[in-house]
Amino acid sequence: KSVLKDAYAGKFYIGTALNESQIEGKNEKEVALVKEQFNAIVAENCMKSERIHPEENTYDFTLPDKFVAFGEQNGMQINGHTLIWHSQAPEWFFEDGDGNTVSREVLIQRMKEHIHTVVGRYKGRVKTWDVVNEAVLDNGNLRKSKFYEIIGEDYLKLAFEFAREADPEAKLYYNDYSTALPEKRKGIVRMVRKLQEQGVSIDGIGMQGHVDINTPAIEEFEKSILAFSELGVKVMITEFDMTVLPSPWEKTGAEVSAKFEYSKEMDPYKEGLPHNIVRTFDSRCAAFFKLFLKHEDKISRVTFWGVNDGNSWRNNWPVPGRTDYPLLFDRNNQPKSAIDSILAVVY
Ligand code: G3I
Repeated sequence: KSVLKDAYAGKFYIGTALNESQIEGKNEKEVALVKEQFNAIVAENCMKSERIHPEENTYDFTLPDKFVAFGEQNGMQINGHTLIWHSQAPEWFFEDGDGNTVSREVLIQRMKEHIHTVVGRYKGRVKTWDVVNEAVLDNGNLRKSKFYEIIGEDYLKLAFEFAREADPEAKLYYNDYSTALPEKRKGIVRMVRKLQEQGVSIDGIGMQGHVDINTPAIEEFEKSILAFSELGVKVMITEFDMTVLPSPWEKTGAEVSAKFEYSKEMDPYKEGLPHNIVRTFDSRCAAFFKLFLKHEDKISRVTFWGVNDGNSWRNNWPVPGRTDYPLLFDRNNQPKSAIDSILAVVY
């Protein structure tokens, strides 16, 4: 039987993101697959601030507690996602009771309370935290998020300091997407180096790894692995998946923020994948894992963003209702041929 976590044992953890129904144990087949194939987990949504801290002084630990218990019962490495992210942050965080923007001091206090409460609750149990998520734009500049606008660049330093206070042993990461883009790579290196110069201790950089079958980014991906590890931090591939669907932006040149209507053209593989696409998917998965293996001394974990194709956020973004095939198990939880390609790399 082909088992991913066994094949890569001693190299790096092989992780998966768990959605709500998997954490609730509602889908037995998916849960069985998680136990069989993976030795690391991350919560896809339930630890995001709008979920775990929906109102001031109100936390919802129901799912996060179950998630952590699941990891412990199954001897898995448990990863926390995510503490400070401009997206999926509750509105109240940035407003006072009258709907006005809060002061710098209040927002810092809220960040501190949030991080101390969440990280503190799982101290010693959640081994890594995505402390800050997606703070750098594709052009390398810092995102002008509400955290940035209200607190200033210092919010980055503070977030890591609060997390370190709350759990000195946890590994603290900066996490982002499109990290293979040259300008973004430089921006992240600049930001992390600056934090290090300020005495902030940061353990790793998470490269999300939402790739697609057509983008020839492997060489650029390697440059980022090297550039990040030269900062003296570990690299993790935190959200790997590979879409096979056409990108509306490349086709139309539209802005990334544009809304697209569902069309057959954007969903060409509803009836199943043609063999040539399967072959490309398999060989690119193998190429990425070959790269990860080459740098196994720098990489501590490779996590897939979902268990099976049906779970993936890719089916719903940027247009809801598409049929994508970005993961290693199909909609019936059967292993896809890409697994053999990934195993062939290591055996
Ligand atoms: O659970 C509710 C459901 O009750 C409700 O009826 C439905 C209607 O909108 O929404 C459901 O929640 C959705 C949730 O996914 C679960 O499916 C949210 O609207 C939707 O916004 C959410 O999307 C998640 C997205 O982050 C935003 O938080 C995706 O699942 C998740 O895969 C995605 O993950 C992100 C990482 O956190 C950061 N990096 C990029 C990655 C992909 O976007």
